Amino acid sequence: MKALILVGGFGTRLRPLTLSVPKPLVEFANKPMILHQIEALKAVGVTEVVLAINYQPEVMLNFLKEFEAKLGITITCSQETEPLGTAGPLALARDKLIDESGEPFFVLNSDVISEYPFKEMIEFHKVHGGEASIMVTKVDEPSKYGVVVMEESTGQVDKFVEKPKLFVGNKINAGIYLLNPSVLDRIELRPTSIEKEVFPKIAAEKKLFAMVLPGFWMDIGQPRDYITGLRLYLDSLRKKASPKLATGSHIVGNVLVHETAKIGEGCLIGPDVAIGPGCVVESGVRLSRCTVMRGVRIKKHACISSSIIGWHSTVGQWARVENMTILGEDVHVCDEIYSNGGVVLPHKEIKSSILKPEIVM
Ligand code: GDD
Ligand code: MG
Repeated sequence: MKALILVGGFGTRLRPLTLSVPKPLVEFANKPMILHQIEALKAVGVTEVVLAINYQPEVMLNFLKEFEAKLGITITCSQETEPLGTAGPLALARDKLIDESGEPFFVLNSDVISEYPFKEMIEFHKVHGGEASIMVTKVDEPSKYGVVVMEESTGQVDKFVEKPKLFVGNKINAGIYLLNPSVLDRIELRPTSIEKEVFPKIAAEKKLFAMVLPGFWMDIGQPRDYITGLRLYLDSLRKKASPKLATGSHIVGNVLVHETAKIGEGCLIGPDVAIGPGCVVESGVRLSRCTVMRGVRIKKHACISSSIIGWHSTVGQWARVENMTILGEDVHVCDEIYSNGGVVLPHKEIKSSILKPEIVM
């Protein structure tokens, strides 16, 4: 089986992290977002993944070459010369997606995290016999997503409305599709949206089916949702009694600590924290609801909550970093500084406190 991952877009909502690496390579729970997806695809028998990309393909491919061998999966790029939206890239990659088998293929948005129930989706697709399957999930704020109105019993989609202004329903498109090759005959090679131009038509012909996604789901393409997504992901590890979760008297709730990270005496860590490779957390540090990327040093008695600390940054002694503070790569927060929601661009040194949420350039 084959799969295509939509990895275009500049990831502007996840800046300053995406100033250092393309969004799909930003780590989530100590693993690049896209690897969570590729591993889950491999597990259900996908042998070739096509990355639909419109900028920096070298960075992505260099990185993924290593995993091609490790995972035993073929990863190729289909590069656009202009952004083709969410459907155009499928037309561009047509020859890579179709083969003599006539099998359906997966299509994924690159920024969605879940338990990826691909196996159940393949079953669902076989049973309904339609042309396309999509996963849907319930959310409180449907207007930022594609909303689906469906027959509960059969899953048949009556209506697909992208980012509706008026309330249509609370089941939304989770950005995970299984499509028959015939869907490609509906897509022209031009910038076009699968949500606005393709799904509504298939739905009108009663050939679009939706499956309610079991388990958690989150689009982690913006900081607040990224932090919520980490909580949901760690909860799901807990439910599976995963041995990856850290244990000890200094741990509260669900926490991941990379095996190469060092944690000092008297720290209190958790809930909902991920600490990356090579990090040094000195004594007496308090961490909750945060992600600490590779190579970070957190000095004595610092306190960090609801924040993301970018690669190789340092947080000074007695510093207090909170409320959606996002530090880019290689940022240095001096001792005793307070950051309330500061969004700090890479390579900056913070010598005075950031009292209200703002961007520091
Ligand atoms: N190759 C390529 N080219 N990829 C693109 C392009 C493009 O021109 N534009 C966007 N993408 C990719 C993004 O990288 C992302 O993986 C995916 O297409 C969806 O784009 P987003 O920008 O993240 O869309 P969204 O989050 O506002 O809405 C989409 O996702 C929601 C679920 O998170 C829609 O599919 C909604 O219907 C859906 O509910
Ligand atoms: Mg998105």
